Amino acid sequence: MDPRKWLLALRFVGWRTAGRAVRAAWERDQAERIPGPPQVLSWQPIDPLEHMVPLPDGARFTGPNAELEIRFLAPEVLRLSWTPGLLPLPYAIVRETLEETKVSWAPQPAGWMLESPAIRIEVNADGRLRFQTPAGRLWREEDPPERRGEAWRHRVRLRPEERLYGLGERAAPLNRRGRTYRMWNRDPGGSYGPNVDPLYLGVPLWISVHAEGVYLVFYENPYDAAFDLGASEPDAVQVTFAGGALRYYVFYGSLEGLLARYTELTGRPPLPPRWALGFHQSRWSYGSAEEVREVVRSFREHHLPLHALHLDIDYMDGYRVFTVDRQRFPDLAGLTRELEGQGIRTVVILDPGVKIDPGYSVYQEGMARGAFCRLPDGRVYRGLVWPGWCVFPDFTDPSVREWWGAHYQALLEMGVAGFWHDMNEPTTFAAWGEPTFPRTVRHEMEGRGGDHLEAHNLYGLLMNRAAWEALRRMQPDRRPFLLTRSGWAGIQRYAWNWTGDTESTWAALRQTIATVIGLGLSGIPYTGPDIGGFSGAPSAELFIRWFQAAAFMPFFRNHAAKGTPRREPWVFGEPALSILREFLELRVRLLPYLYTLAWEAAQTGAPLVRPLFWGNEDDASLGEIEDAFLLGPALLVAPVVEEGARARKVFLPSGEWYDFWEDRRLAGPGFIEAEAPLERIPVFVRAGSVLPMAEDGLTLHLYAPSAGEGEGTLYSDAGDGFGPYRVDRFRMEREEDWLWLRWIPEGDFPWPWETFTLRLHGFAVARAVIDGQESSIQGDRFRVRPFQEIRLEEKT
Ligand code: GLC
Repeated sequence: MDPRKWLLALRFVGWRTAGRAVRAAWERDQAERIPGPPQVLSWQPIDPLEHMVPLPDGARFTGPNAELEIRFLAPEVLRLSWTPGLLPLPYAIVRETLEETKVSWAPQPAGWMLESPAIRIEVNADGRLRFQTPAGRLWREEDPPERRGEAWRHRVRLRPEERLYGLGERAAPLNRRGRTYRMWNRDPGGSYGPNVDPLYLGVPLWISVHAEGVYLVFYENPYDAAFDLGASEPDAVQVTFAGGALRYYVFYGSLEGLLARYTELTGRPPLPPRWALGFHQSRWSYGSAEEVREVVRSFREHHLPLHALHLDIDYMDGYRVFTVDRQRFPDLAGLTRELEGQGIRTVVILDPGVKIDPGYSVYQEGMARGAFCRLPDGRVYRGLVWPGWCVFPDFTDPSVREWWGAHYQALLEMGVAGFWHDMNEPTTFAAWGEPTFPRTVRHEMEGRGGDHLEAHNLYGLLMNRAAWEALRRMQPDRRPFLLTRSGWAGIQRYAWNWTGDTESTWAALRQTIATVIGLGLSGIPYTGPDIGGFSGAPSAELFIRWFQAAAFMPFFRNHAAKGTPRREPWVFGEPALSILREFLELRVRLLPYLYTLAWEAAQTGAPLVRPLFWGNEDDASLGEIEDAFLLGPALLVAPVVEEGARARKVFLPSGEWYDFWEDRRLAGPGFIEAEAPLERIPVFVRAGSVLPMAEDGLTLHLYAPSAGEGEGTLYSDAGDGFGPYRVDRFRMEREEDWLWLRWIPEGDFPWPWETFTLRLHGFAVARAVIDGQESSIQGDRFRVRPFQEIRLEEKT
């Protein structure tokens, strides 16, 4: 470890814990020192497949030392399982199959061929697989898998132009090609910047974009793995798993369709409570009720909207999970009520480590019921976290999940609205080596048993599952809000994510954009950074630029490490305060749009933040852009990520765009030089968009296309719960000097606005006809009552 990191770590954990970290690392090494199976030294290709048995939706192929099962879960979704090796427990997935599919098969000279209406797969007897369209376009080619002891190695060919995305949370370029990544959730230790790998939340999937199409592959294998995406061999991916069966799903289609299918398989991200899309203020830590009140008061005095306040570890009594320090928070229930009265929800942190303290009920109960993870010799494993020595619930045991989940009740009763799950990679401090459990730690794995090598990457996922299931049970009328640092495939069903302990640098701000887009392409739509970076002291300029970027990201939270200078919005004085306020207010104005995107994500799995090539996968010029992103269908956001920059280049994809700030109409594709004074970042609106904003109640911004059609959607409901909702679609159509706007309502939640504003962009109204009635409307902004159809004539 480099000395700077050591000092940083010391600042966070303190001398006492740092001293114990030596002991902890030694204990881990002891626990891992078991005689393993004799090492087989070289990779061996599997022996040829000899027999084929057709199945209703696929086929099974057997050879002397391996078996391959192929099943079509839908015409364009395949599941392939190579054994031997332990099959995964279905923690990631929610559906066994997706759509009944007709599959035909035929023998071939070198093997067999299976075909659905969307995919033809050639299975060569030597284990080589070729994936094609029924018309014979080859879009994926695998070499025969290889074995070494329990491990699998899988080699997939790459085309020269092929780009690869995904893998979960990565501090890497958006296009992942050319590097090796580890799939082993890990706390990088207090602070990270670009190129650190792995991080807290890996997802073993990638999306491949090349001239023959777009496909997604998801490996349902939680073992420690290396994904070499063209690093050692430029024209091949090599994936190596330390154990388990080689099971993977292959999806073929459009980018949007792939994520829709993938989230059908692994679960859609549920609609969050509306407040979660607002602004969250946090700090490690607000250490007392008084301090919280002070912060909240300052937000009010400075006219800064605030939706959630987070309590970091110091609200607990000696970092004992599920306790509250009664000295510093004598009446947490009173405090949360007070905050809620001002529209502010309270979110509290929970870490999985349970302090070893015979006088502490959670420890006692857990010990009595055998809830904690054990070493192979039967002793309860202990590791070091904030409270000192801790034991750890085994979330792979359903009864432990239930027991753990029951503890949320007391906090709910105190008015806590959301839970922030940290250190769940799981992380334990160690002076050297892996900062986690020994790989030999035993896990229940739903009764079938397993070790930490298998359970490690699932730990965060299952901690969130425990909480989610408990909250749904205890508060059936509320949507849970969970925030997690770690997770795995499927985590989007339960929790939001933040990008952890980033450093406070311009490079980290730039990285944040690619990281957030990459998470969205891994099925995890709700994510965002600690604004300003976690571990340092951002300048006012860096903080402003970070804040401006994050205002357009799903999770919008200001958070900072212990010992860093304060960074509530007023700390930086003027002009920072006014600029930050403006972006906070803009975020609030955007809530109807963001909430609609959230609903769409719940329907289709489409992330809110998207790469510029979304819907435009063929356009290679968009494939590497990682300093700008789309927010839903309407907005293109180009944050400023360079110190001192007051303008930046922005690539506008093909089509017409409006400058959000100045309403100028611009034409893509191509680069433009956009102004970016400190008080703004370039933002563009796609022509044809109907952008709903919370202005004067509700304002629909109509960005007139110069020709053709456009559309916008508005989702509305009570903001929480599972009651009625409505979806209003607004269709725009341009016919020379006329602009039509048609309203297609749906759903049974009552339309909340007696009147609302229509605001026109790029179109000056001469005449308006509302539902057949001539109307005296002029200018670019007017109030209307609910209508079916509006026809506007342009002033020429
Ligand atoms: C971890 C978290 C950070 C939190 C700190 C104390 O470093 O990533 O967000 O503030 O722990 O709980």
